[in-house]
Amino acid sequence: MLAMTACAGPDRPQTVDPAPDPTTDLGPVQRGQYLFTAANCQGCHTDTRHHGAFLAGGVAIASNYGTFYTRNITSDPVNGIGRWSDADFLRALRRGISPRGVPYYPAFPFTSFTQMSDRDILDIKAYLMTQAAVAQPNRPHALHFPWSIRALLLPWRALYFHPGPLPPNPGHDPQWNRGAYLVEAVAHCEECHTPRNALGGRIEARAFAGYAMPGQAGPPAANITQDPRSGIGRWSRHDIADFLATGFTPSGDAIGGRMGEVLDRMAVLKAADRDAIAAYLKTIPAVPGSPKRPGRG
Ligand code: HEC
Ligand code: HEC
Repeated sequence: MLAMTACAGPDRPQTVDPAPDPTTDLGPVQRGQYLFTAANCQGCHTDTRHHGAFLAGGVAIASNYGTFYTRNITSDPVNGIGRWSDADFLRALRRGISPRGVPYYPAFPFTSFTQMSDRDILDIKAYLMTQAAVAQPNRPHALHFPWSIRALLLPWRALYFHPGPLPPNPGHDPQWNRGAYLVEAVAHCEECHTPRNALGGRIEARAFAGYAMPGQAGPPAANITQDPRSGIGRWSRHDIADFLATGFTPSGDAIGGRMGEVLDRMAVLKAADRDAIAAYLKTIPAVPGSPKRPGRG
């Protein structure tokens, strides 16, 4: 740390140390697998409920707009992404644009993955390419009109899509920066925990204040801001890291639902990364109020 400060010349902009990434010593495929786990790519791209093949897609995602079906991201050259170049893959995750130039729906959380670094995105690709090719065709989405028109995504993108990568915040230490990166980019916690307006754009003034996604079953994603009553302001850093490892809240409740799958992934991360996530969450501004189920007022 001292050495780095000494190396920085006087006119260099202030930067923080590289985040304490516990995976830096791993090779690309192993790093990719770790990030893939933290991002829960398999949760959306493997149809476990119907015994679908690993990463072959076809998972139905219910929403107000209709049903999305996730895609085959195996190394199959025809149905999967086996023929994609690194540039194709980067463009999909960083910009949400397909190799043929078509915009993706934000049901694919590229809106968070955009914040990832090039290296991390390409390591995920390296891992995907080591997995079995599955020749399973993609299933078209079943969306209500007018959401079936992809061109509508262009104004949506202009309003709500902020391309990354996430710049480091020199006002905070490396651990906090690592936590911010995991929460905002890789593990995409805001995709479920931040409420959305009628057009599906995130309401940033209520970031992390919880959301009941219309059309989805199960309990709403909780308020995880530092509000002591509606949020997790009374949880210590240790409580949060412990929750991510065990799935138990400080009061002993086991959390499941859509969070259950996230917790399965968090449990296998390195402890340093769960601690970093906890450090970051402890700095999320308090926003009072609990998410309401649609239709319950
Ligand atoms: C919340 C569910 C979800 C998660 C998590 C998710 N995806 Fe997807 N993904 C989707 C959906 C839905 C689509 C289809 C988007 C569309 O058709 O516009 C998609 C599309 C894609 C595509 C485009 C494939 C093609 O044929 O054009 C790639 C590549 C992809 N995802 C990779 C990933 C990777 C890598 C991860 C983890 C880092 C990931 N996804 C995590 C839901 C998800
Ligand atoms: C796929 C959607 C989804 C994602 C992604 C997600 N969560 Fe959740 N989370 C939920 C839901 C739904 C609940 C409520 C579960 C319940 O009440 O049983 C929840 C509950 C929680 C709780 C418990 C709050 C309480 O008061 O009991 C915490 C803490 C939490 N999530 C943190 C996170 C963090 C940190 C991330 C990112 C690493 C994350 N979540 C990503 C859906 C999600």
